[in-house]
Amino acid sequence: MRVHVVEDFDEMSKKAADEIINELKARPFINLGLATGNSPIGVYKRLVEAFREGRISFSRTKVFILDEYYSISPESDLSFVGTVRRQFLDQVDVAEDNVFYLNGLARDPEEECHRYEEEIKRAGGIDLQILGIGINGHIGFNEPGSPWDSVTRPVDIAPETIAFNRRGGVSIPEKAMTMGIRTIMNARRIILLAAGKQKALALFKMIHGRITHEWPASILQLHPNIDIIADKDAALLL
Ligand code: GLP
Repeated sequence: MRVHVVEDFDEMSKKAADEIINELKARPFINLGLATGNSPIGVYKRLVEAFREGRISFSRTKVFILDEYYSISPESDLSFVGTVRRQFLDQVDVAEDNVFYLNGLARDPEEECHRYEEEIKRAGGIDLQILGIGINGHIGFNEPGSPWDSVTRPVDIAPETIAFNRRGGVSIPEKAMTMGIRTIMNARRIILLAAGKQKALALFKMIHGRITHEWPASILQLHPNIDIIADKDAALLL
């Protein structure tokens, strides 16, 4: 694990965006895994800026959305794919055919997850995965107890995650679909973002704790190519 502690959210976003820009310049055809939540918002902003300044293009990049709420339409502002489109994809030159996501309205969620896992495989796997981390150490929606060999599948969202994601009064579902732990571990490179004191315990457990299902992100200790970019507050206990 390469751990980078930076001053604040802005520096975290800049460092992550620079890493992604360098990857894309070297290999514009990569498969990019994208997370939602607050953590990557600044990164997406900087990627849009870099695109507008003519510094990068996404025309040959495939993007895969990490997870999705179940029962929410992809067209809805609440959906993760809708969020990433608004914050990032709609403002750059990603081809529509190169945007891959789980359909929150799929009638058969098992089948939908299987389809998505196969789609990732067919594309050759994820080259660079952007991740956030939950306060309980979840990655994607792989909540505590998630099997290490799990692939994309329907899941129940943990009560603490529901409470956290409902801050601000947003009503969100209790079920989701997510790339599995194995799907994430198979990514060739991972950049994990963490900002704010609320993430301090999860970050400590991920980096210094035992590898345990109680803290799903702890499995990332075994990933051969991961950068963790944390601001000073998230790094408080390191
Ligand atoms: C959600 C998502 C995760 C995300 C996490 C952290 O539960 N399923 O993929 O990493 O929240 O979100 P935030 O970055 O807003 O703290």
